[in-house]
This record gives sequence, structure tokens and C-alpha cells, in this order.
Amino acid sequence: MPTAHPPIVRTVAALRDLIAQWRRDGARIGLIPTMGALHEGHLTLVRCALAAGERAVVSIFVNPTQFGPNEDFGAYPRREAADVAKFAEIGGHLVWAPTVDEMYPTGFATHVAVSGLTDGLCGPFRPGHFQGVATVVAKLLLQVQADQAYFGQKDYQQLQVVTRMARDLDIPTGIVGVPTVRETDGLALSSRNVYLSAEERQAAAQLPRVMRETAAAALAGEAPFARLLEAAKARLSAVGFGPIDYVSINDAETLVPVESLARPARLFVAARLGRTRLIDNIPIETAAA
Ligand code: PAF
Repeated sequence: MPTAHPPIVRTVAALRDLIAQWRRDGARIGLIPTMGALHEGHLTLVRCALAAGERAVVSIFVNPTQFGPNEDFGAYPRREAADVAKFAEIGGHLVWAPTVDEMYPTGFATHVAVSGLTDGLCGPFRPGHFQGVATVVAKLLLQVQADQAYFGQKDYQQLQVVTRMARDLDIPTGIVGVPTVRETDGLALSSRNVYLSAEERQAAAQLPRVMRETAAAALAGEAPFARLLEAAKARLSAVGFGPIDYVSINDAETLVPVESLARPARLFVAARLGRTRLIDNIPIETAAA
């Protein structure tokens, strides 16, 4: 049932006042950090917070510091009114939508960098990206002081980085990873899917398919991982993906590339389709998202 329109708060001071009031009421708080353009994946995170009995706070902030100079910061979809309506419809409680100046006032000079976990996968392809993410998420966690914060497993490396950062900095918010939400043809939901043309959208469905089949072949021990990954890249190239940044099997916790399944591992892909960079990952144990 739709609730009343949730308040939209734009300053840290106003946010603190509201959160303090909720704390006095004894409420538990769940944070869903987003850059807006909310889709069913984000709404699933909100529902997780609500199901845990928490007041759901969604942050909507297109964070400039996590975009490289040639990335899509300018083009990133911004549709706050529609986002607020979707959030209200499922019973969300508060929208935290600061301006860039509120988040990064003049003189801002502090950055959070997580080493190790950011060395591979998207790290080398998006220099500075994870520092931007870790810094803004540290700020969001400290601003909202939620009991739990929810992140999609689609951005699995981000989830691991944020989990490590919160642990290392003794931020008491629990970090909860939620399985990827997919279209019926398997494509992972992403705010960037709106960039795909109709033809690219059709080709994009091959990505989860190639991933599932590659993961199943790895699980069955059909060939050394290197050969399976090369075959996956060739199949993706054949349907129009390129450049392919990586197709890789990595340890699910350390994110180090692996050549056997002695520990839980995941298959990770990042590849461009036209102007859209798609990323996805699945666990190898079940070959399902
Ligand atoms: O996943 C995202 O939307 C962003 O990286 C996040 C976590 C909101 C930080 O800006």
C-alpha cells in the first residue's frame, strides 16, 4: 500500500535531526545507497530493509568522484521525481538527496582507499573509481548511521570493498549483500541498461547465457579455466561485445583470480556493448545468480 510522500532531505543537518528523532522513537534504520534511476534491483534492496523492520532511507546521489574523466557522469540518468514516487509506492520512509556542494564542500580533502580488493577486475580499468565509492559510502554510512546498509551483488567488487572499508574503519553499520535481480532473459538490472539500443539489448541477453554456460563448464572441470575464459570471450566478441575488459574466475572473498574451485569462486565479466559498459558476476557453485 502506498505511504505518504517520504520527506526529501538535502542537508546533513536536516538529516541528523530526522535520524535523531527516529532514534528517540526506538526505530531501526536501513540505508539503501543509490545513484538514482531506481529499478527493481534497488526496490528489492528497499524491500529487504522494510522486511527487516527498518525505516528505509534511500540515498540518491550521482557521485562525481567515482566517474573517470571519460565516463558517463554527465549522461547518467537523473530522474528524482520518478524515483521518489517508486520509493513511496513501496513504503520507503526518507530520501537523502544531497547536492554535490553539501557532499563535497569547498576544501574537501579526505579520501578512503581500500587496497588489495581493488587491484584487479574493474580496478585497473577504472582508476580512482573505488576510492570515489569507498569515500562516498563511508560518508553515507556516517551521515545516516543506519543499522544495516544494502548493496546488490551485481556490483560484487563494490560490495566487497564496502564491507572491508566498514570493517576496517569500525563503522558499526551491517553491510548486507543482496542477490542480483535479472530480466526474464537473464540480463542483470542496471541503471545503465537504458543506454542500450534495441539491437544491443537483444545481444546483451547473450552475456548471462555465456556466463552460465562457462560457469557450468568450470564446475564440471571440462577444461582449464584459461581455455574456458578465452572461449567465453570469443563468444561475446562474436555477438558484438568489445572491448572485453575481463572474463575471469576469482575467489569470492579475496577477489584473487583462481585456477581451481578449492574455495567459493565467482565468474566475473566486464565488457562494452556499443557505448554501454556492462558488468556481471555469478557464483560458480550453482551457476546461477
Ligand atoms: O552502486 C551505486 O549505485 C554506487 O556506486 C553507490 C554505492 C551508491 C555509491 O555512489
